Amino acid sequence: MEKIVIHRPGGFNRLQFETFPDPLPGENQVVVQTKSIGVNYADCVVRMGYYASAKKYIGWPITPGFEFSGVVSVVGKNVGDLAAGTRVFGVSRFDSYASHVVVPRSQLYFLPEHISFEEAAGFPVIYLTAYYALYMLVHIFPGSTILIHSAAGGVGSALLQLAQLGDWRTIGVVGSSHKVEEAKELGADWVIDKSKENLWQMVEKYAPQGLDAVLDGNGVTTLREGYTHLRPTGKLISYGYHAMFARENSILNHLKLIYSYLRTPRFHPIDLHNNNRSLASFNLSFLFDRGDLLEIAMRSLYSWFTEGKIRMPKVTVYPFREVSRAHRDLQSGKTVGKLVLNL
Ligand SMILES: NC(=O)c1ccc[n+]([C@@H]2O[C@H](COP(=O)([O-])OP(=O)(O)OC[C@H]3O[C@@H](n4cnc5c(N)ncnc54)[C@H](OP(=O)(O)O)[C@@H]3O)[C@@H](O)[C@H]2O)c1
Repeated sequence: MEKIVIHRPGGFNRLQFETFPDPLPGENQVVVQTKSIGVNYADCVVRMGYYASAKKYIGWPITPGFEFSGVVSVVGKNVGDLAAGTRVFGVSRFDSYASHVVVPRSQLYFLPEHISFEEAAGFPVIYLTAYYALYMLVHIFPGSTILIHSAAGGVGSALLQLAQLGDWRTIGVVGSSHKVEEAKELGADWVIDKSKENLWQMVEKYAPQGLDAVLDGNGVTTLREGYTHLRPTGKLISYGYHAMFARENSILNHLKLIYSYLRTPRFHPIDLHNNNRSLASFNLSFLFDRGDLLEIAMRSLYSWFTEGKIRMPKVTVYPFREVSRAHRDLQSGKTVGKLVLNL
């Protein structure tokens, strides 16, 4: 088998290809021969060496990757409902950037013929993130107005699609004009192009009463204003910090990170109380031990996905060998939708 291995933190050239003996499954485990692998911004953060759960669970060297699709290669003891050749997709805590992935049976889902390997590989992480934020972490009432940053990106697209199911009004924010159409097609009621418009003036225009929720994957650049623009009872959900990082790799990246960390707003619980607003955060990669939550979330998401009630955003496919280019593009901040690697 072939894996992408990172031996120490750094730039795109740290993504090395290495060969290993084919893996064997343990009890209740399955080996999947991968066809497509989802690429997430988190994988870039793992590569740069700043991802807390990567340090906690793996250390160095590490093979990144949280999601994949493919065909079953070998099944372990006690796995009765899968056979070699079955089309599946699934999630893993790291290790998906490989030609073969070994996971517990509970982390695999049947892949119907009408859904492609590319779409399925990119589905779980963005939708689990969006589902956890909107359905498990906070309760948002029908008719609410929610602000979604990076709305044409992976997680942003999933948030827009789920918000439509929930009958919520959405304001999608994009950082470049070429993303506006995609955000509209994904269901945003209003799109703010912050490369051309004043973000917070436009928010005040579309939500004069204030926002019911803000879904923020940026971090330092927007958290403070997002909080200020909540109406009483509003919720700020902070799930990512990509604005801390430079859009290219250089020594500046490390300096920018420290500066951004120091400038990230701190919220005092007594202020939250007095303003009647909430702040919530989470990291999916620490949630793998909560198989019960994963099962509840995937049960709904799987049926909506396979029945066509939610769809994948635009998927851009890169050959497995061009993983560095995929990371470079994702870090540039210019991509739309989801990136996947194909074997
Ligand atoms: N908490 C969790 O469990 C969890 C799970 C999955 C993802 N996430 C987080 O969710 C966010 C989105 O992840 P994704 O994989 O779906 O990525 P993505 O949204 O497809 O791509 C990142 C987007 O972020 C914006 N951006 C702003 N500053 C940036 C910078 N300095 N460098 C690169 N992009 C920048 C760009 O969009 P605009 O310019 O249009 O804003 C860019 O397209 C990330 O912060 C990720 O870490 C968190």
